Amino acid sequence: MSDQQQSFAVGSKSFTAVAINCAAKAGEWIKTKLGNYTTLKMKYSGQDLVTEVDKGSEAMIRNLIMTHFPDHSFLGEEGVEPGPEASTKALHNVKDADYLWIVDPVDGTTNFVHGFPFFSVSIALAHRGEVLVGVVYDPMRDELFVAEKGKGAYVHGRKMSVSDEAALGESLIATGFPPDPHYAQPLNMKGLQALVPQVRNIRSGGSAALHLAYVAAGRLSGFWEIGLNAWDLSAGALLVAESGGKVTDTSGTSYHLGVRNVLATNGHIHDAMLEQLNKAGAAN
Ligand code: IPD
Ligand code: CA
Ligand code: CA
Repeated sequence: MSDQQQSFAVGSKSFTAVAINCAAKAGEWIKTKLGNYTTLKMKYSGQDLVTEVDKGSEAMIRNLIMTHFPDHSFLGEEGVEPGPEASTKALHNVKDADYLWIVDPVDGTTNFVHGFPFFSVSIALAHRGEVLVGVVYDPMRDELFVAEKGKGAYVHGRKMSVSDEAALGESLIATGFPPDPHYAQPLNMKGLQALVPQVRNIRSGGSAALHLAYVAAGRLSGFWEIGLNAWDLSAGALLVAESGGKVTDTSGTSYHLGVRNVLATNGHIHDAMLEQLNKAGAAN
């Protein structure tokens, strides 16, 4: 057995247990703060929000992870300057680390601020760029989505699998509206315009990580969004892959940590969605 295989086999269980523990603890705390935050600030644009709860959640998760694994690297949204350039640079600096924890402490801050009960905590662990563990927790529904590389994905201990819709006309898909009016929003609007008439319907719940978890659970047939970050995607991408789905960028390149324009589907509608997005000039 190589060193790499051995460390995965020996360590993976406790990695997952720590990820679950962090997500559950942070999620429960966030829930107590619903309608109860005190500081609201804008980041990259007026649509990019942060509260003291985002920062508190990240600090709680970081402290717990560092207690268990002080040598591991950590990439959390609130430790990075706002905007796509800073995010890309921050990822570049750590992406090949032996062990990298990637954390979105509240995915769906706008929902949290408005009391719209659809937000999550997203935690992934990558080993030299490959995601080994992904956990997404929805504290409002008390749903914990967990995946381990090569071992499947589970919600409430039930194995998940993607849906079986094979045609766009039977598909319920989702997207999101990133807080970047210059590049990402216009592309996403082109995608919407192309896909609305093709699919059964489109949802935009406001948490990319939960959208991915819903694709994994077979509740959505697919999800795409332009301009996301590693912390939005890494845990959810593993959930989808381990549930039998497909995750690429909007040009069809397989998922890796640097993907920002994502397409995650049940696999069956992947090529049709890729084709529609590319035909509409909505891919990049
Ligand atoms: C946002 C959510 C939203 C997506 C945005 C993200 P945040 O993350 O995932 O669904 O449309 O692009 O920025 O800021 O709430 O962590
Ligand atoms: Ca996010
Ligand atoms: Ca966030």
